[in-house]
Amino acid sequence: MSLVYTEAELMLDHPGLAPHVVAGRRMHGGFRPDGSYQPPRALVREAALGAWRAALVERGGAPLAADSSLLGGVRLPNVEQSRVLLRHGLGETFWNTLTITGKIEARGRLLADIAFPSLAPHIVGDISDKAIGHLDKGLLKSHGWDEGGVDDIGAHDQMWFVARDLAFGEGAYPDVNPPENIARPEAGQRFMPELPPEIEGLLSLLMNLLVIEFRAEIGFQATQDILRTPDLFVDRRAQAEEAAEIVDRIRADEEIHVSSLRLYLGECAEATFRTVDGDTVSGQELIDRFWNGLVRWATVDQPSLVADQQRAVLHERVMRHPDGAAIWAEFEAAA
Ligand SMILES: [Fe+2]
Ligand SMILES: [Fe+2]
Repeated sequence: MSLVYTEAELMLDHPGLAPHVVAGRRMHGGFRPDGSYQPPRALVREAALGAWRAALVERGGAPLAADSSLLGGVRLPNVEQSRVLLRHGLGETFWNTLTITGKIEARGRLLADIAFPSLAPHIVGDISDKAIGHLDKGLLKSHGWDEGGVDDIGAHDQMWFVARDLAFGEGAYPDVNPPENIARPEAGQRFMPELPPEIEGLLSLLMNLLVIEFRAEIGFQATQDILRTPDLFVDRRAQAEEAAEIVDRIRADEEIHVSSLRLYLGECAEATFRTVDGDTVSGQELIDRFWNGLVRWATVDQPSLVADQQRAVLHERVMRHPDGAAIWAEFEAAA
C-alpha cells in the first residue's frame, strides 16, 4: 500500500454514486448501489488514512487516544428537557441549536481556505510518507470542504439547515447567530515556546479540532433522539425522520475527521521537533503539555459555564409563555 499521494488522488470521490439530494438541493457524498451513504472525497483518502495508521502502529506509535472520557460535562438542555420544551410548543431552542450547529460547521471551511505552514522543516526526518506530510496536500482542504462546502454542493452547514427546515418547516423561527465563544482563560498564552508560533498554532488547532469534533457526537446523538421522538413533530413525522437520517450522514463524515485528527496527532507525538534555538524536543512532550489542560477545560470548566449561560437564556424564554412557571418546573424535573 502506497504511503505517498497526490492532492488530486486524495480528493477523489467514489465513482458511480447516486447523487445526494435533499429537498431538491444537491449535497456532498452520495449513495452506493445498496442505498447506504458514502461520504465525499473518500475513495483514496480513507484507504490512505488506514495505510498511514497501520504504518504508525507498525513503528510502535498510536493514534492519539480519545475515548468516552472526552464526552464529560453537564449539558443543558438534555434530551428530555428539549422534549419538554417542544411538547409545550417552545421550539425555538431546538431550532436555534440546529441553526447554530450549521453555522459553526460553516466556519470549518477555514481549513480549506487558510494556507497552513508545512510541518516538514520543523520535524527531524522525512514525513513525506506520513499523513502529516499531506496536511497541505488535500487533507485539510477536504476536511474544510466537508464542513463548509465547495462550489454549489451543500456540505454540513447546509445539511443542518435542511434538516432543521424538514423538521420545523422553513422560516418557523427567526435566524440566529452562534453566541460569543467562551474563551479559555489561557487563550493566547504560548504553550510551546520552543516552536515558531505558527507551528504551535497548527498543533493547537489540530488538538482543539479533535476535541470539538469528538464532543460534537454528543449533540448529534441528542439531535437524532429528539427528532426520532414519536410524539414530537407529529404533523411532520416523515420529515423529522429524514432529518435524523441526514444527521446520520453527517456523523459518517465526521468519523473520518475524528480518526484523521487522532492519526495526525499520533504522528506528531512520535516525531522529534526542531526548536527555534537549534535544539530538538519530543512531540509527545509538546502534545501532553497542551492536551491535558485542553481536555480539562473542554470536559469540565467550559460545559458548566455554557450551561449557566444557557440556563439564563432558557429561563427567560420559558417564562414568556403563559404557563411559564409550570413548564420551568417540568423542565427542571427532567434534568
Ligand atoms: Fe462537520
Ligand atoms: Fe468535522
